[in-house]
Amino acid sequence: MTNSTRVSIIALDGPAASGKSTLGRKLADTLGYLFFDTGIMYRAITLIGLELDMNLQDEASITRLAQDTQIEIRPPSRDDGRAFDIMVGSKDITWDVRRGDVDANVSVVSAYAGVRKALSDQQRRIGLRGKVVMVGRDIGTVVLPEADLKIYLDASADERARRRYDELMARNEPANYDEILKKVIERDHIDSTRAVAPLRAADDAILIDSDKMDVEQVFNKVIALCK
Ligand code: CDP
Repeated sequence: MTNSTRVSIIALDGPAASGKSTLGRKLADTLGYLFFDTGIMYRAITLIGLELDMNLQDEASITRLAQDTQIEIRPPSRDDGRAFDIMVGSKDITWDVRRGDVDANVSVVSAYAGVRKALSDQQRRIGLRGKVVMVGRDIGTVVLPEADLKIYLDASADERARRRYDELMARNEPANYDEILKKVIERDHIDSTRAVAPLRAADDAILIDSDKMDVEQVFNKVIALCK
C-alpha cells in the first residue's frame, strides 16, 4: 500500500464525533503513517487550565499557558485501550483529556487566536514531514493547506451523539444521550462560528457523509482515494 500511493499528507476534518479519529487511526496504520489527532492539544490546554483553577475566559493567561506547555505524545505504555500516551511533564493525561468538563470548555479555549497559533505552528511543523494523517477542524484550511488529500467527514448530530454515547457506555462511564446531543450541537456551533480558523470544509476537500456508512465503508472509500 505504502508504495502504491503518492499521497503523503492527509488532512481529515469534521465536527465532533464524526468518526475522524477511528478513520484516521485505521488509515495511518494501513499506510504506515503517523496518526496525529490535533484535538488532543486543545484538550490538554483546557484540562491543565481547569486543574490549575484558571479562569478560562482570561484569554491572555490561557494563551501564555498554551505557549509555555509542552505536550508530549508517546507510544502507549499501557494496554488499556489507549492509542498513545499524552504527557505533560511527568503527568499522564491520556484519559483525563476526555473528561466531561474538558468537552464542555475546550471550544472556548480553542477559539483564542494565540492558543491556535501556539498549537498550530507545532502541528504544521510535524505535518510537513509528510507520511501523516492529521485530524482536526482546520487542517485542510489552515494548518496544512498543501495536503495531498483532504477529507471532510460529516454525519448528522443525532448519529454523532449516538456514537459518543456508545463510546462512553463501552468505557463504563455515565452517559445521557440528550445531554450529549446538546453538547455536541453547542460545541459545533462555537467551533464553526469562531473568528479564527473556524470548522469548515476546504474548497478542495472531499465531503463524506457517514450517516449511513459504517467504519469499513468509509475506510474503503478513503483508501481508494489514496491510490
Ligand atoms: O473527538 P471530538 O471530535 O469530540 O473532538 P476533538 O477532535 O478532540 O476536538 C476537541 C475540540 O478541540 C474541538 O471541539 C475544537 O474546539 C478544538 N479543535 C480545534 O479547534 N482545532 C483542531 N484542529 C482540533 C480540535
